[in-house]
Amino acid sequence: MMSLFSKSENLVGLDIGSHSVKLLQMSSSNDALKLVNLGVAPLSRECFVEGRLAKPEVVAEAIRMLASHLRIKSKSVAVSISGYDVMIKKIELPTMTEDELAARMHSELGQYIPYNIEEVDVDYQVIDVSKNRPNFMDVMLVAAKKESVADFNNLLKLAGLEPLVVDVDFFALSNCFEAACGFGDERVALIDFGANKSLLNIAHKGMPIFTRSISVGGNQLTDAIKECFNISFEEAESVKLGQSEQKYPTKELEDIFVSTVGAWVKQCQRALDFFYHNFPDDKIGSIYLSGGSCLIPGLDTVLREHLDIPVEIFNPFSGIHPDAKLFDTAYVNHVGPQMAISFGLALRKSREK
Ligand SMILES: Nc1ncnc2c1ncn2[C@@H]1O[C@H](COP(=O)(O)OP(=O)(O)OP(=O)(O)O)[C@@H](O)[C@H]1O
Ligand SMILES: [Mg+2]
Repeated sequence: MMSLFSKSENLVGLDIGSHSVKLLQMSSSNDALKLVNLGVAPLSRECFVEGRLAKPEVVAEAIRMLASHLRIKSKSVAVSISGYDVMIKKIELPTMTEDELAARMHSELGQYIPYNIEEVDVDYQVIDVSKNRPNFMDVMLVAAKKESVADFNNLLKLAGLEPLVVDVDFFALSNCFEAACGFGDERVALIDFGANKSLLNIAHKGMPIFTRSISVGGNQLTDAIKECFNISFEEAESVKLGQSEQKYPTKELEDIFVSTVGAWVKQCQRALDFFYHNFPDDKIGSIYLSGGSCLIPGLDTVLREHLDIPVEIFNPFSGIHPDAKLFDTAYVNHVGPQMAISFGLALRKSREK
């Protein structure tokens, strides 16, 4: 329980993506959020190989440089593990005390987790009373591979940082949405399109009801451009962003965009079908897109047309109105969708568990 008189500070949110590292600092007083600091540092392609951290020293250096550039002094950060490295499961258990639950978890964990218990770190949290069974409660289990957690801790140590909160990116995403927009009554699908991976989190009143990693991301588009024109990854990336000095045939480029976006929409459709199959009574009211790749021109429109659900690009800063004397607000709003996960992490406080 938080003491009335204790002052708990927001932690620095650190989102370590494969394309870039994001740092975000906020303050909250009387429930009003204020942007304190924000920055993005690009990473080279070799830093992550097939989703795994391959160059911890390089990434650590990028984090240190970014923090020093932003003059961030605090070493305490909130970070998140990727959904690829964790298993999230909701179970129903009879209502019991915290001690009873701890004992039960200790003895029965193996039956809930399809891994060797020795190889995973497990955390759990009681979420609510079960919807259909009043004497039962919903418990959220999160199991992360020890190997991935160790990689991660090693990286943060190299960067000289102390992770006071280790979250899961899915949860950071819905916490961000809750703080920035607030959940109404409808079910909302949050989709974060990154460089290597994308996340889908279907949430209801702030609680994730369905989470899934979707194996699509902006690098696929860059790779397709690279192959088509036989150019470097860097050049292909600037062609994708419309920043290349050189001109490439528009028709071919358009075809690449259309086929990549089409494949992504199909993957999203498949994930939503799976959700509807398991939760036939739950209707998704709106879809909100974040992550750098949600800015691919036309992606939101194609999704909207194909899925027949309202789709919006989600900029968590739109309601916060960053101080124009301190920030280039056009820049902040432009990178806003890409900062969603770091935003969710920057909401965490130093005093909470
Ligand atoms: N305006 C834009 N249009 C199209 N793509 C963009 C735009 N801005 C950024 N991107 C793409 O977004 C991706 C980076 O997004 P993001 O920062 O969310 O990824 P990441 O978190 O580093 O990666 P991941 O989470 O997949 O490991 C890159 O592929 C980049 O090319
Ligand atoms: Mg990301």
